[in-house]
Amino acid sequence: MISTAARSASKCWTCPSTRAGSTSCWSHVEMGPPDPILGVTEAFKRDTNPKKINLGVGAYRDDNGKPFVLPSVKVAEERIFKAGLDHEYLPITGNANFCQAAATLAFGNDSHIITNKLNATVQGLSGTGSLTVGAAFLRDFHNYSKEVYMPAPTWGNHIPLFKRNGFNVKQYRYYDPKTCGFDFVGAMEDLNNMPEKSIVLLHACAHNPSGVDPKAEQWQEISHIIKKKKLFPFFDMAYQGFASGDIDRDAHALRMFIRDGHMVALAQSFAKNMGLYGQRIGAFTLTAKDQQEAERILSQLKIIIRPMYSNPPLHGSRIVETVLTDTNLRQQWLKDVKLMADRIISMRHALRDGLVSEGSTRDWSHVTETIGMFCYTGMNAEQVGRLWNEFSVYLTKDGRVSIAGITSKNVSYLAHSIHSVTK
Ligand SMILES: Cc1ncc(COP(=O)(O)O)c(C=O)c1O
Repeated sequence: MISTAARSASKCWTCPSTRAGSTSCWSHVEMGPPDPILGVTEAFKRDTNPKKINLGVGAYRDDNGKPFVLPSVKVAEERIFKAGLDHEYLPITGNANFCQAAATLAFGNDSHIITNKLNATVQGLSGTGSLTVGAAFLRDFHNYSKEVYMPAPTWGNHIPLFKRNGFNVKQYRYYDPKTCGFDFVGAMEDLNNMPEKSIVLLHACAHNPSGVDPKAEQWQEISHIIKKKKLFPFFDMAYQGFASGDIDRDAHALRMFIRDGHMVALAQSFAKNMGLYGQRIGAFTLTAKDQQEAERILSQLKIIIRPMYSNPPLHGSRIVETVLTDTNLRQQWLKDVKLMADRIISMRHALRDGLVSEGSTRDWSHVTETIGMFCYTGMNAEQVGRLWNEFSVYLTKDGRVSIAGITSKNVSYLAHSIHSVTK
C-alpha cells in the first residue's frame, strides 16, 4: 500500500532517479531533437509564399504536386473489396503468397533461389521493419562479426536501426563531393580493409541520399572483393523499378551477387514502387544453402517477430499479392512504375536545362546522371539556408533534393532560385 504521505510527497516515490521536487517519473526525460526531414515539411507548411516548393518529402508526387495512387493498385483494391474477405490475423511470417511474389520479383522468376526454394522470406513492416527483422536476426545468429559497414552517407535510419540491435556501425567511402559521384577507389580500398566476415550494407539501386549508384562493372568488382574478404552482403532494396523504370535493371546488382554465389540478406519495400507508403508493406529474405536451412531460418525469424509485433498487417500484402500475381495487373503496374520513374528522370533533365538557361556555368551533370528519388545537388548549408529564407525552397541542409517535389510548373522558378544562390 502506498501511504497518503507518500502520495502527497513532492517526489515520485517509485523512481529514485526522479529529480527532487518533481511529481513525475519522467521529469528527467529531455526533449529530443526534431526529425531533420519532418522539420523541412514543417517549415514549408508555415510558409505563405505561393511559389514555395517542398523538396524534402520522400514520397512520389505527380506533376501537380499531389500524391499518386497507382492505377494498378486502385484495381487491386476494388477486387479485394468486392471479394468481401475477412480480417483475421496473418501468420507470424505474413501472407505466404505475398512473400513468394516479393522474393520472385527481387531474384527473378528463373533464379535458382526461387526454383529451389532457397529463400527464407517473411513479410515485414515496409522497408524499415524488414531491415529491423534482418538486423535482429544477424544480431542473434551472425556469430562472426558485430560490425556493419554502411556507405557514407547512408539513409538516416540505417545507423540507429543497426545500433539499437547491438551493432558497431562503421562506414565505407561512397559519395565523393568533389565529383558529386561514386568514390569507387575509396569504396574498394575500404572494402579491402574491412575485417573478414563483417556485414556490408548495400543500397541495391537509387542510393538514398545521393542518387549515386555504382555502374554494372563497378558492382562486379564490389561483388568480387566482398567474396574475397568473406564479407556478408545485406541489400536494402527500397526502390526496385522506381529508379530506372525497369524492375529487372534495378535488381541487377542483387542478381549479380546471387550468380556470383553470395548468400545475401535482402530488405524490400513496396512504399515507393507501389505507392503504398502508409500500408507498411515489405519483405525480409535470407538466402539459404538448402531448403532445410531455409526452414530453420524461418523458424527463428518467427521467434524474433512474435514478441516484436506478433504478425504483420493484412491489407498491403493483399494489394501487392494481387498486383504481382495477376498477369494484366502486373503489366499495368510495370507501366505505372515506369511512369513514375520517367517523370522523375524528366524532371532531372528539366532542372538541368533550366539551370543552363539561367546562365549557370557550374557543372550540373550529376543532376541527370544520378538516379531515383534523390539527388545531392552539391549545395552547401549556407546556400540551402538562402533557398529557404529568400526563395521559399525547402530541402535538407545537406543539399539533398527530392526530385519528386519538382513539377513542370515549378521547375523554372527552382532553377532560377538555385542559380541565384550558386552563381
Ligand atoms: C534506402 C532506404 N531504405 C529503406 C527505406 C524504408 O522506407 P519504408 O520503411 O517507408 O519502406 C527508405 C525510405 O526512404 C530508404 O530510402
